[in-house]
Amino acid sequence: MNISIIGVGYVGLVTGTCFAELGNHVLCMDIDEAKINQLIEGRVPFYEPQLEELIKSNYSLGRLDFTSNIEECVKFGELVFITVGTPEGKNKSPDMHYINEVINEIIPLLEDKHQIVVKSTVPIGSSREIKERVDEEIKKYNIEAEIELAFNPEFLSEGTAVSDFMFPDRIVLGVETTPIKNKLLQLYGNFIEENIPVLITKYETAEMIKYASNAFLATKISYINEIAAICEYYGANIKEVADGVGLDRRIGNNFLRAGAGYGGSCFPKDTRALYSLGARAGHKPQIVKAAINVNDNQKYIIIKKVKKLLGDFEDKTVGILGVAFKPGTDDIREAPASPVIDYLIRKKVKVKIYDPKAMENFKNLHSEVQCCENEYEACENCDCIIVFTEWQEFLKLDFDYLRKIVNKPVLLDLRNMFDPIKVREHGFSYLGVGIV
Ligand code: UGA
Repeated sequence: MNISIIGVGYVGLVTGTCFAELGNHVLCMDIDEAKINQLIEGRVPFYEPQLEELIKSNYSLGRLDFTSNIEECVKFGELVFITVGTPEGKNKSPDMHYINEVINEIIPLLEDKHQIVVKSTVPIGSSREIKERVDEEIKKYNIEAEIELAFNPEFLSEGTAVSDFMFPDRIVLGVETTPIKNKLLQLYGNFIEENIPVLITKYETAEMIKYASNAFLATKISYINEIAAICEYYGANIKEVADGVGLDRRIGNNFLRAGAGYGGSCFPKDTRALYSLGARAGHKPQIVKAAINVNDNQKYIIIKKVKKLLGDFEDKTVGILGVAFKPGTDDIREAPASPVIDYLIRKKVKVKIYDPKAMENFKNLHSEVQCCENEYEACENCDCIIVFTEWQEFLKLDFDYLRKIVNKPVLLDLRNMFDPIKVREHGFSYLGVGIV
């Protein structure tokens, strides 16, 4: 099948590349010419495991290509995927202006063979509005075509996006007409053969599935973080509590890792959007609001811990391990490390950071931090080490060596990735989240 992808951000690039890997011919378009040239040269604008190899192989096989020409892109495909960003708007509801611009641009280019698939996360009701607008506008161009539309949300996590695409839990299709439904079932045929559940719903239901899924996962995280705070007071161990709770099959053990709070480009934005969508509907979602509040409060809890560990801020140095919002990515959007580091900088604390992938991005926004070559350089002479991201390579840290190079052997493990007993055996004070 020939597929056009409009918007080569994270979702568009992963989706387009994976469709090519499944044997389709895919043309990806973005207005950012520099990015397109970079991709043609086989360079990926962000870090995502497996993606670069897949782009290179599919590009050389002629199944994947890139352009900055929207006309060329739209003419190429039968299915035109819209994967542009929907950043947070003024009232916390997603800003639809990129999608609206794309729709305006593609309408005069549409022909009978085309069907539109919206993959960007959009407020509930948007797909229907877009469909109505397309129907209305094509008349102005005297286009005699029935342009169908589907909403097909993505469930890709950064760091595991390629495998999330290739091994999905479910495929959700918001479709209201048969030809586009059949085309999408054909496109996702490999997964259907593997008995991956496919949900076919009306537009609004598919849009809500996306928000409700992300908000539920965010709520699980805030819930366990709240329990962790209580565990600390009573001396219970949150890791064991989460294991015990998660073994109940009705609950499940995923997304019950207590830590620094959720970050990234999705959970914070989508929970706030769902709250705003609920409020607009006359129903302010209290559980979602609580999840947001608990997450916002995590930074104060962390700052309180840092204050306690440092005593005061005068002439203090802090070594930060990990600034990405999670491991496996160089993304620092709404990373829990950011507000805490900003606070420390305001207090004139010297902040040294090391992250295997996200350092460049972080330095661009927080110029006062000192970027280090490795974990040891970041920890040298520091009064406290703080782990914000659970990069697996940190598990190899030589604590005996660290003990010799730090000013004070203090570890604040905000991802509970180390064994407190072992760390303490090396002469360190250890503080985790929900673990005393
Ligand atoms: C999330 C969803 O997991 C994807 O299904 C969804 O498609 C995506 O948003 C999106 O809407 O595009 P992502 O933001 O990449 O994916 O990352 P997650 O793995 O969900 O992690 C989000 C945050 O929660 C991270 O900061 C992570 O450290 C934190 N987290 C996760 C915890 O603190 N505890 C956990 O147990 C799990």
